[in-house]
Amino acid sequence: MSRAKVGVLVSGRGSNLQALIDACADPAFPAEIVLVISNVPGVYALERAERAGIATRTIPHKGFASREAFDQAMDAELRQAGVEIVCLAGFMRLLSAPFTQGWAGRMINIHPALLPSFKGLHTHRRALDEGVKLHGCTVHLVTPDLDAGPILVQAAVPVLPDDTEDSLAARVLEQEHRCYPLALKLLAEGKVRVDGNRAVIDAAGEGALVNPAV
Ligand code: GRF
Repeated sequence: MSRAKVGVLVSGRGSNLQALIDACADPAFPAEIVLVISNVPGVYALERAERAGIATRTIPHKGFASREAFDQAMDAELRQAGVEIVCLAGFMRLLSAPFTQGWAGRMINIHPALLPSFKGLHTHRRALDEGVKLHGCTVHLVTPDLDAGPILVQAAVPVLPDDTEDSLAARVLEQEHRCYPLALKLLAEGKVRVDGNRAVIDAAGEGALVNPAV
């Protein structure tokens, strides 16, 4: 079986990267991580990659004159490594349109909210402030608009009366670690078709696969 070559972009602790590393450790998983790029030096995600024997690059965005120039440097590294699918895993930079267009249909992001609700930052705090009773996470294809591309996988969690930002974040994160490998698997297996703004998942016989918390 040939496995899709994956590049992961990170900026921080890398727990979602770890979930992907763990999934790829199964030889039957249809993807393998060949490169991890961080825009922040010394983050724990890089250590996780190194421990798993995965090549890493640190490309500090501050050294570049423009967003496009930084994105081009990442793009060159990804293509040189033969990457076919890009996963954003806690990558805290906006991406330029040429970069997102260059990876259209082949780049996914995990967002800690049930999109299209709570795009952007501080999603758990905002969910608590709004008093929503359900919250969750989303893996979606990346388009030039922030947190807006076709949705592949979502999982919902309850918001409990005594939740704090941290307790809610922890409950969501547990689901992120289930959703991200699942979304990567579906994409790597060619089971994702885009129809306008919607992703149609060809997962016949796999039940409620695209909402693994249900
Ligand atoms: C996750 O909550 C992810 O959804 C968001 O940033 C956080 C990254 O956490 N995009 P980690 O670095 O994967 O632990």
